[in-house]
Amino acid sequence: MKRLFLLLALVLAMPTMAQVSVTDLKVNHLSAPEGLTDRTPSFSWILKGDTRGLMQSAYEVAVYKGGKCVWSSGKVKSENSLTVPYEGPELQSGTRYGWKVRVWDNKGKVSKWASSSWLTGLFSLEDWHAKWIEPKLQDDRSPIMRKEFSVNKSIASAVLHVTAHGLYEASINGKKVGDAHLTPGWTAYNKRLQYQTYDVTAMLAKGANAFGLELGYGWYHSRMCFRDRADRYMYNIHQVGAIAQIDITYTDGTKESITTDRSWKASTGEILHSTIYDGETIDARKAQQGWNCVGFDDSAWEQVAEASYSLGELTASESEPVVTRERVKPVKYFITPAGEKVLDFGQNLVGREVVKVNGKEGQEIVISHAEVLDEKGNFYTTNLRTAKAQTRYTCREGEQTFSTKFSWYGFRYLKVEGIEGDLNLDDFVAEVIFSDYPETGHFESSNSLVNHLQSNIKWGMRGNFVDVPTDCNQRDERMGWTGDAHVFFRTATFMGDVQNFFIKWLKDLALDQWPGGEITDLVPCIPGWMGAGRTGWADAGVTIPWQHYMAYGDKRVLENQYESMKRWIDFMFRNTQDFLWSSGWHYGDWLAYQAENDFGGRSAVTYRPLIQQCFMVHSAEQFIEAAKVLGKTRVAERYAATVEKCKKAFCEAYLTPRGHLVSSTQTAYVLALEFDMVPDEVRPTIAARLAENVREYGHLTTGFLGTPYLCHALSNNGYTELAYRILLHEGYPGWLYSVKMGGTTIWELWDSMKPDRTIPDTGMNSFNHYSKGAVGDWLYREAVGLKETSAGYKTFMVRPNPGGGFKYMGADKVTPYGRAAAKWYDEPGKFTLEVEVPANTTAEIYVPSPSVDAVTVDGVAVTSVADVKVVGKDGPYTKYVVGSGKYKFVANR
Ligand code: BGC
Repeated sequence: MKRLFLLLALVLAMPTMAQVSVTDLKVNHLSAPEGLTDRTPSFSWILKGDTRGLMQSAYEVAVYKGGKCVWSSGKVKSENSLTVPYEGPELQSGTRYGWKVRVWDNKGKVSKWASSSWLTGLFSLEDWHAKWIEPKLQDDRSPIMRKEFSVNKSIASAVLHVTAHGLYEASINGKKVGDAHLTPGWTAYNKRLQYQTYDVTAMLAKGANAFGLELGYGWYHSRMCFRDRADRYMYNIHQVGAIAQIDITYTDGTKESITTDRSWKASTGEILHSTIYDGETIDARKAQQGWNCVGFDDSAWEQVAEASYSLGELTASESEPVVTRERVKPVKYFITPAGEKVLDFGQNLVGREVVKVNGKEGQEIVISHAEVLDEKGNFYTTNLRTAKAQTRYTCREGEQTFSTKFSWYGFRYLKVEGIEGDLNLDDFVAEVIFSDYPETGHFESSNSLVNHLQSNIKWGMRGNFVDVPTDCNQRDERMGWTGDAHVFFRTATFMGDVQNFFIKWLKDLALDQWPGGEITDLVPCIPGWMGAGRTGWADAGVTIPWQHYMAYGDKRVLENQYESMKRWIDFMFRNTQDFLWSSGWHYGDWLAYQAENDFGGRSAVTYRPLIQQCFMVHSAEQFIEAAKVLGKTRVAERYAATVEKCKKAFCEAYLTPRGHLVSSTQTAYVLALEFDMVPDEVRPTIAARLAENVREYGHLTTGFLGTPYLCHALSNNGYTELAYRILLHEGYPGWLYSVKMGGTTIWELWDSMKPDRTIPDTGMNSFNHYSKGAVGDWLYREAVGLKETSAGYKTFMVRPNPGGGFKYMGADKVTPYGRAAAKWYDEPGKFTLEVEVPANTTAEIYVPSPSVDAVTVDGVAVTSVADVKVVGKDGPYTKYVVGSGKYKFVANR
């Protein structure tokens, strides 16, 4: 009877039971972040549920401190699940806040509460009680510093805030705090320095505790920049040092801070030398075992010095740290013709090796890093230029494992010297390190070479997203080149949730911007570097914030960057003459196609002022859109009027009456088309000239600035088959050339390696340079056809461009609202399109079919499916609008 009653109660409860749930709770786009100092952080979540057309109609957010509710939004009628601001009382420093959210769907059903938390950083300078400390260094050795303290009461919470001039690893009672590498990360050090916050409650013990800090050189103290100029470019503002404090709150409510100060002691450990380009030298015999544990005898250590640097530069870090993301085992051991012992990891990667060895005291092991083997199969390091990129390790007696702490490398091959006999694969592993952004995008197709290209794009991104977006990560460069980030950005937003990664970088970009508005070539810009205001490079400062907003839907990035964006546009406009911008030195269409022995003039050189004009207009148009989003309509109108004049000036200067551009290159046509530089009636002629050029060459000829837009320009203007032809070209120059040559990352040059496997010593030849991977954007958005139609994918479209002999192609991406996916199958007589639309969004679906009558959804006529709104014919497509859910469209042909 009792059971029956229970069952009845359950059945009665059924209709009101929630079918919608809430997942992926984030604060400022981070899962349970530690150290936020935003006073009005923003909450986001993802709705999940099986019903089609699921939307959020209302939400309720509540914030807790120590179990007590400090703020509740109440039930708010809104679809907003992305940027819900905290509006409660002032937040306190170093405090953990819990928060929970529930939502109502469009049928009025309510979800269960879902909860998460965040930990605040230090809101004010007065909250810092610690002092900067510096060890008195005699040489290059990495300092270790320590202090013991005791805890006599029971702890409610303990929060560590820490940073360094250089790099640091903090430890408590012998254990490393957190799992991040290369902290505090790289920022415009002369203007701001990040600190990190960690919840260390569980690391402290009752009684005696030891607090340790180990420091490395990192970006702060290593020579940066390339070749001969290298040692002229360094921050080196202060000597290596650190500032740290553990704020303890006891259960009785009292507080105590353990801080860096004069009472700390310093010495040196096993790291004798460690820099970004040259690698790390370690002498295991010099390790001071137990130095960061309780009871270690530090009587011979020196007292540190206190330094009174301004704390104003300290800023809480707000992006994901660099961590070990993957471990790769070597696939092969061999001896090269030159007699070198070499390990092959099968993948060009960025990280560091971990080595196990049974060593003899004093035995020296030298490990060198290379991306490729030369044509004879020997270890090749010429392309590292002056970077030594070596781990040098001196053993103590017995079994030991070593890896570098403050240096990392770009490599596929390791050359090992100093170990006798054959190497054992099991003794080596490569730790792949990159920023801990979620990898959100996937692509697959029926063409294995293109799938390999996609893998190369992914690995190129991983290797160059090490706290800042770099050009490459192996040679004496590894810098935040703005042009590279600019051209790759949209591909990156598909592949990863890189919102916070770029929010941080854009702040440095604005800080490094010159007073006149020029954006520097490098961000962070290394002191002494004098390049700024270059077309296609500086434009990163406008394109990235705008595309960031479109990809992730948080307009705060536009608010933050608005002034910086405007200053760059103003710089360009100010430097125009009769609305033409032609002054200054520029990189142009960097690395465009150059024909060898070019007697016939086939190299694809595009007139630089023409490029400048295109990027100026394009950036200004994106700025105008940003101004509109921010409600600055008057500004938008004013700049739009100037843009129109600039476009007119472009046509007068660079377009002939018969529809030629002064540079007859792919890049010139592509930019004119994609940046809308010419009147509509001229577009078909320009597009035809582009097509003619592509046919004539039979391959691409674009460099940095034309490449990201080339396939788009073709497929957007009726030449999809030519876009595919270029994509699928297997020779030089083209993306698949490097794939066919065995590349596992994107190369800097179209021919970084010649067909006979010789490697041109051009002085600049990286095998891991993500910029040309920008073609990914075309694959996802145009070939598969998945792209946002409003900010953050609140609405998006799936508009496939089948062709190129592909039997199927698909891409999926975790958008800010959840997983969106599209996959098409092109078979004789039938075209199938599978789509997945996340909750709280709607999508326009374009099916290549002459009529809606030929289209079914999940096996029934599309016109009879209630969840699919038939819009009608749209060019060669029929168009539909759908809400969340999975749909399988089939067009019978
Ligand atoms: C870098 C590039 C960068 C360029 C500037 C090179 O050395 O590796 O990727 O954008 O200089 O043209």
